[in-house]
Amino acid sequence: MSDENCGVAELHYDGKKYELPVLRGTENELAVDISTLRKDAGLVTLDNGFGNTAACKSAITYIDGEKGILRYRGYDIEDIAKFSSFTETAYLLLYGELPTDEQRANFSQLLNRSSLIHEDMHHFFNAYPKTAHPMGILSSMVASLSAFYPVPETLTDEQEREVLANLISQIRTIAAFSYKKSVGEPIIYPSCTMRYVHNFLNMMFSSPVNDYEVDPEIARAIEIFLVLHADHEQNCSTSSVRMAGSSLANVYAVISSGIGALWGSRHGGANQAVIEMLSRIHAEKGNGSEFIKRAKDKNSNERLMGFGHRVYKQYDPRAKILKNICHKVLDRPGVNDPLFDIALRLEEAALTDDYFIERNLYPNVDFYSGLILKAAGIPQNMFTVLFTIGRMPGWLAHWREMHNDAGFRIARPRQLYTGAAKREFIPVQER
Ligand code: CMC
Repeated sequence: MSDENCGVAELHYDGKKYELPVLRGTENELAVDISTLRKDAGLVTLDNGFGNTAACKSAITYIDGEKGILRYRGYDIEDIAKFSSFTETAYLLLYGELPTDEQRANFSQLLNRSSLIHEDMHHFFNAYPKTAHPMGILSSMVASLSAFYPVPETLTDEQEREVLANLISQIRTIAAFSYKKSVGEPIIYPSCTMRYVHNFLNMMFSSPVNDYEVDPEIARAIEIFLVLHADHEQNCSTSSVRMAGSSLANVYAVISSGIGALWGSRHGGANQAVIEMLSRIHAEKGNGSEFIKRAKDKNSNERLMGFGHRVYKQYDPRAKILKNICHKVLDRPGVNDPLFDIALRLEEAALTDDYFIERNLYPNVDFYSGLILKAAGIPQNMFTVLFTIGRMPGWLAHWREMHNDAGFRIARPRQLYTGAAKREFIPVQER
């Protein structure tokens, strides 16, 4: 809420003094405003990976990485995970407040009305090879929505409401349809009576020849998974969404760029990579110590997947919640996943290892999430798709916040050029 001007930082360069305003955020975090530095002093700032750059002001999500705090719109993630649903969380992120009963009912109705995708899109799914990664399919199908649900560059409030609902609802339908196509089963249409997660699980796993019933414990676990992934301020994919959205590009294309960014194994793709890592350790009948050795070795490309975070310098609060859910889901009678034991041992070993201690590397959201998805029967290559479904409200909240800011500008970072200096071009005949 506040971005109080609370002082001035001085920059001394080349015999001159430049005064830079210092702004204070709601939680007392401080930022030096360098917006006029290039104009005033001819300088730009260089910040590898934007580790030290606030790209915008935002009122959506607050993280204190040193204390392990995450809040959506001021509410602690622990409370949201305990008391809220995914659709209520989506509403909160998008519109800033928890919905009234009437708003909640209207929002749910709108999501249900928006859950179909145009029938002409169905045959697109047939054109992908069986081996296609679902993230690639998702990204192209979401971009394709722009052709079937065209929107003008500037949306009315009504159009905006519909676009937001479309994306939150249709992403789940596309994800389930692509799964059904990949296993050669008929698609199951969304239901207008089921809740968001039940509807998704039903589209994924019911079929004309089974009596599928959603397991309430699994449904709640997936719901919490989605809630925990719903936003995480200026991460790589959200920044991609803001960056692409700042050109006023079509919103479906903008979200498609976020999906592309999320796919990578350093970001959302880590949930799949964690299970692959645990499976490899299991297959090698190891206890993880060899893997930890490789993850510490700078000559190896391995990293301990699901560990480390740009912002959290202690236990990711989302990982704590997911670890508890793993216990709830995987400690049930008759359920056993040896990968969970490996994960627990790996965590213990890493948290007592100097390499990880010195670098403040702790489990992040992806370390335990894959085990929950696996227990729900979600195939491994769809784990990042589930992350995408969860992150959709966050992307849209940031897209909306940016466009509602009267002063927003196209995102266009500077660079420090390190290439060749001016040189003469010699035509090929003279070389
Ligand atoms: N295993 C081994 N070493 C690591 C790891 C890891 N998982 N993560 C960081 N390091 C080391 C890194 O090699 C570097 O060491 P040194 O200082 O000796 O060069 C140091 O720790 C700092 O790492 P960094 O790469 O500079 O940190 P970053 O903030 O740029 O990267 C990260 C953050 C999440 C990309 C990284 O920790 C990582 O690759 N983790 C594994 C992938 C992963 O779990 N990603 C999911 C992130 S959370 C969910 C999401 O955002 O999508």
